[in-house]
Amino acid sequence: MRIGLGYDAHRFGAALENHTIRIGGVDIPFEQEVIAHSDGDVVVHALCDALLGAASLGDIGQHFSNKDEAWRDADSLEMLSVCIDKITAAGFEFGNADVTLIAQRPKISRFVETMRKTMAASIGCRVVDISVKATTTEGMGFEGRGEGLAAQAVVLLR
Ligand code: CDP
Ligand code: ZN
Repeated sequence: MRIGLGYDAHRFGAALENHTIRIGGVDIPFEQEVIAHSDGDVVVHALCDALLGAASLGDIGQHFSNKDEAWRDADSLEMLSVCIDKITAAGFEFGNADVTLIAQRPKISRFVETMRKTMAASIGCRVVDISVKATTTEGMGFEGRGEGLAAQAVVLLR
């Protein structure tokens, strides 16, 4: 059994009308952009780092450089399936994952089941093997001030 930990954070940018941001592979209505080279999906990025970490394969920045044009505005779900391919090639099998989004806003509870189904499809695992939770920080810190959002993930590989 191998355990891995992931963390990611992105800053909110300009206010935009009729805008959505990507969290856990799902487009969620939110009136500010997320600044990132890729789609800025903190939940999927934290999950990718946890997968790579569990296999001692480095981190997301090493595998998907933000200087690489190939990953500009990339769908992070594609990075997730590449990470699964990498851990599989290294001889590991996905066990389960648990992710926490840390954000004052947007509230994600009504999207959580879709996030789990979407990420499970990308991983090729059962929905029960991927958990998504969320918390505010009750107004404290950068997430609390609404400067950005963050996610933590833990993964078990066999
Ligand atoms: O302290 P606790 O995490 O229970 O309370 P909270 O931070 O006020 O969050 C209350 C509930 O809102 C959490 O249990 C989450 O399910 C939900 N939540 C959410 O859907 N989206 C967020 N960005 C933050 C919290
Ligand atoms: Zn990221």
